[in-house]
Amino acid sequence: MYRTHNCGELRMEHLGTEVVLSGWVQGSRDLGFMMYTDLRDRYGLTQLLFNEQITDKDLFEQARTLGREFVIRVEGTVIERQSKNPNMPTGDIEIQVSKLEILNASKVPPMLIEDEIDEGDDIRMKYRYLDLRRKPVQQNLFFRSKLAIATRAYLADQDFIEVETPVLIKSTPEGARDFVVPSRMNKGQFYALPQSPQTFKQILMVAGFDKYFQIVKCFRDEDLRADRQPEFTQIDCEMSFVTQEQVLETFEGLTRHLFKKLKNVDLPKFPRMTYDEAMSKYGSDKPDIRFGMEFVELGKEELPEGFVVFDNAELVVGICAEGQAAEYSNKDIKKLTEWMQRPQIGAKGLVYVKYNADGSVKSSVGKFYNDEVLKGWLEKFGAKPGDMLLILSGEEEKTRKQLNELRLEMGNRMGLRNPEEFKPLWVVDFPLLEWDEESERFHAMHHPFTSPKAHDVERMLNGDHETMKALRADAYDMVINGVEIGGGSIRIHDRELQSRNFDLLGFTKEEAQAQFGFLLGAFEYGAPPHGGLAFGFDRLCAVMCGQNSIRDFIAFPKNNQGRDMMIEAPSPIHDEQLEELCLKINLPEGD
Ligand code: AMO
Repeated sequence: MYRTHNCGELRMEHLGTEVVLSGWVQGSRDLGFMMYTDLRDRYGLTQLLFNEQITDKDLFEQARTLGREFVIRVEGTVIERQSKNPNMPTGDIEIQVSKLEILNASKVPPMLIEDEIDEGDDIRMKYRYLDLRRKPVQQNLFFRSKLAIATRAYLADQDFIEVETPVLIKSTPEGARDFVVPSRMNKGQFYALPQSPQTFKQILMVAGFDKYFQIVKCFRDEDLRADRQPEFTQIDCEMSFVTQEQVLETFEGLTRHLFKKLKNVDLPKFPRMTYDEAMSKYGSDKPDIRFGMEFVELGKEELPEGFVVFDNAELVVGICAEGQAAEYSNKDIKKLTEWMQRPQIGAKGLVYVKYNADGSVKSSVGKFYNDEVLKGWLEKFGAKPGDMLLILSGEEEKTRKQLNELRLEMGNRMGLRNPEEFKPLWVVDFPLLEWDEESERFHAMHHPFTSPKAHDVERMLNGDHETMKALRADAYDMVINGVEIGGGSIRIHDRELQSRNFDLLGFTKEEAQAQFGFLLGAFEYGAPPHGGLAFGFDRLCAVMCGQNSIRDFIAFPKNNQGRDMMIEAPSPIHDEQLEELCLKINLPEGD
């Protein structure tokens, strides 16, 4: 037998018990005549005691050969510790070892297996099997497993059916590039990996499944960030005969249940905010509402002419950073301005107005505006003595985006983004279509299957170009702490309307037929009204645990170049495989 107990469960009540434990050697302290070794497994750490005066010499010598990460089995007696460790659940006891068996030796590991390490990502990813031995990473994955199980139980209880949809499909346009898989049997043709099971879940509704869900891998070939992986997981859901209101209620219910069950947090009813309101107050369709600092615009009446930058700007807009006037020296402001001018943000400059504690006003644009004007701004922002206004100007959309970055940064600096506080909301009433200047065509803001609002259907069928820009969709996002956790919509279920949408998106009739003939066909055989949404499961895990990166909630993630460093994928394939797949490209000599 390898073990009678695990490494996390022995307590004072086990004193005198003969036990067998197995696990990994976390480390040893050799005191010359006694040796302490920490034995680790998934459940915890237990201290082993090798005592030369009690045990035989051979056993003691054998114990001295143990290195970090050796896998061992020990037999011994539970005894009370001389010096207890209150920080360890098993800290009151130790095992007086009478027998030691080395099950497997280990090379010296290239990284420490400890909670806090300063190892770079490269080493962690290459030796992921060692990284995964660390408690914080294991805890994240245990959390993920519990969250998946709780999700399944809740949805099953609400009559949702889990259906697996295929992984080798045809491309569905959702905004990112597809990963493609060449077909050997159909030469020159490719499958695509699903960016989401969108069309399949709609087909399941046409088939009468009524309530579907799936915890499903999705694949998107897009630039990677902390909250984006090329393969990630969705809790994908769809329902028939529902209004937007019913969809929101159902999934707000799921979210509330998950927070209660896993975090013992009672979420309030989720507030709703329209897309327009989110953009104008926060410059983002995923506002972090754990803190205020809402945008305030300055209009012509507050901006007498004189400062040419503001005079020519499409928008002058700012935020009020409470209590920050004394915190920012000229040098700090300069640094903050440079931070805003980095190419990632691209602001041209940053204007400040300090409302000093003594009531005086100081501003980088004091030359252009007198105190009376500046005080007018302070009043408009609701500033109190001690506060500081930070103001940007320029082209409307860009300026709002830049101010969003500044607001989030100030939120961080001012400690207003507490990871233990959860502020969910629904962002609703998204535009249906987005005009892209570059390609001179409309893109679907959500995806091409999203329905316009009922009152916009007529305008969509018959309106002109400008009207299309104003159409609103029954589309919604769930946002928690500034992270887009999920998104969905009520779908088009009418063939004509779907065709019209494809037209607007620039598909010819033939292209629409070739790509989505199956869906248009299905809509001719009694498609029910339906809608749904998909949660980003990895993101939900990370946000619930107060973390920014989804990587440590994925057992085997990819790095920022989309590589799996452990298995070294992607990798070249053999010439024969290429030939078989008709993919052999004859590169010129030397390439
Ligand atoms: P959407 O594209 O908004 O909608 O995706 C749903 C949610 O999936 C998560 N997500 C990601 N998570 C990690 N890495 C990525 N690369 C990534 N991309 C998206 C986000 C997002 O909110 N079929 C529709 C849903 C529907 O309409 O029902 C869809 O996929 O949290």
